Amino acid sequence: MDRIVIRGGAALSGRLPISGAKNAALTLLPCALLTDQPLTLGNLPRLADVDGFGHLLNGMGVSTATAGTSPDAFGRTITLDARRISSTTAPYDFVRKMRASILVLGPLIARMGEATVSLPGGCAIGNRPIDLHLKALEQLGAEIEITAGYVKATAPDGGLRGGRITFPIVSVGATENALMAASLASGETVIDNAAREPEIVDLCRCLVAMGSEIEGIGTERLVVHGQPRLGGADYKVMPDRIEAGSYACAAAITGGELELVGADIDDMGAILAALSETGLDVAATADGIRVAANGRLRPLTLSTAPYPAFPTDMQAQFMAMLALADGASVLTETIFENRYMHVPELSRMGADIQVHGRTAVVRGVDKLVGADVMATDLRASMSLVLAGLAAEGETRVHRVYHLDRGYERLEEKLSAVGAQIEREADG
Ligand code: EPZ
Repeated sequence: MDRIVIRGGAALSGRLPISGAKNAALTLLPCALLTDQPLTLGNLPRLADVDGFGHLLNGMGVSTATAGTSPDAFGRTITLDARRISSTTAPYDFVRKMRASILVLGPLIARMGEATVSLPGGCAIGNRPIDLHLKALEQLGAEIEITAGYVKATAPDGGLRGGRITFPIVSVGATENALMAASLASGETVIDNAAREPEIVDLCRCLVAMGSEIEGIGTERLVVHGQPRLGGADYKVMPDRIEAGSYACAAAITGGELELVGADIDDMGAILAALSETGLDVAATADGIRVAANGRLRPLTLSTAPYPAFPTDMQAQFMAMLALADGASVLTETIFENRYMHVPELSRMGADIQVHGRTAVVRGVDKLVGADVMATDLRASMSLVLAGLAAEGETRVHRVYHLDRGYERLEEKLSAVGAQIEREADG
């Protein structure tokens, strides 16, 4: 395993390239299963989860060819060809490591009429059931059976049929599975209380490029007119709004200024509004977004919620930043039941944080002190890196494989804007 070693104190400055969005890539990759034509995806981030998903698809008979890019380029282009699907099973070993593997469920049952997918089990941030995914597919006529930890889904004779899906709570993944399944179902599917995250819009745009007809893109009511088949497409993944937000926090916590090259200001309303409220200067540029610290950060009261509200995937990063604010902030996590694993680690660096159920009170301190800290999940890991960038002395973040799931070449990007950061073997 590796660790990341950071010597804090440098104010970051310069241009930082933003990669393709992990959470868009992980729903675009399974779209390849919907067609026997090649699907080319550009701007895919070089991440462990993207590699893992590629291997999962290879195991199903999908061929993947990576276009020759220079090793130091960010992102890559992969062409996927699911002409021959040899397996409709997503094994436990894949799904337990990467929950997004369940996103093969909708495409497989829609194209092949069956799918056997391991139940994902819980993860560090919560139980994370998939009941909403399964109920949505049942609304399209699927038979669902759960045995020995696997979901076995079977389409009716003649394939999935369009239906009405109303989600009781907003679910990004369940909306994605429903959209992909409905795109090949016969007839019209109406999805109410659909997730509206930009990654859902990216999925809809890719499906449309493949021949889908979808109304209401970006709204909570999606109407999908199923097609007998879909074609290939050449589609570029959207920029990663959570990566961009994370690096904006790096500028804020170090008192620096960054241009986030390639970031899309339209996807980041709530994140940028919250950053501005702390006193950060935020402005669109020709190439992306410029964020600049403006004196000591002001405290905030924040609650996570589905898009367009403040995203849960930014809560840990904001907590690190607000640990040094001039006053007390109140953060409420409404999406996941256990997304405060970064709190004890930040406290070891001198942060003053009290958690009461879903709410955390963060009292700003004058300084953080570097320490050995343990990464527990992807966004918690980033919050520890952010704290290390501002802390006095040296911070060693252990178990950085969590980081590699969601941040492409993090040390390289941060070193290039002045951070003293390096990766080393962790014994
Ligand atoms: C996606 O996870 C993202 N992952 C998560 O990002 C993100 O935090 C989450 O959406 C919320 O925005 C990917 O896109 C790969 P949900 P997902 O279904 O789809 C409950 C990161 O750090 N729920 O919107 O799994 C669930 O327990 C990751 O990049 C059910 O009860 O999230 C949660 O409380 C972490 N039943 C809430 O809904 C279900 O069938 C929202 O989950 C499904 C979900």
